[in-house]
Amino acid sequence: GAPVRADISKLEVGQRMTVEWRGKPVWIINRSAEMNERTEAVETSRLADPDSSVPQQPAYVSGTLRSIKPEIGVLIGICTHLGCSPLYRPEPEAAVTDDWPGGFFCPCHGSYFDLAGRVFRNVPAPTNLEVPPYRFENDDIIVGE
Ligand code: FES
Repeated sequence: GAPVRADISKLEVGQRMTVEWRGKPVWIINRSAEMNERTEAVETSRLADPDSSVPQQPAYVSGTLRSIKPEIGVLIGICTHLGCSPLYRPEPEAAVTDDWPGGFFCPCHGSYFDLAGRVFRNVPAPTNLEVPPYRFENDDIIVGE
């Protein structure tokens, strides 16, 4: 099918928008430097797959932040457990777990992910959130491939 585009020119720092690409909800998050610092500070022993060794992302996306640009996260908004829609909870919350840096919390069975979509250990979701194939057409336009 034809490529799908998202205009992120009005997406403010700290905000998340949802677009539909190929029938799936895709989240685009404008992550602040502080948000990324929190993600990078997560102890990797707390994560089920800190380096995304289970391929849940295109090969050109790597590193802790799992994105092309550090500030722009692109994730499929479907819990990898049973497909619920996790909530955007970008701030740390001790009520989730005391070392959670903020990210996505799935209310169905309590899985939680960081702002890069990396899943914590000992939650029902088995893998990180999926990163769809995408590219930047320019600074404002992301194309889902
Ligand atoms: Fe998200 Fe079960 S569907 S934790």
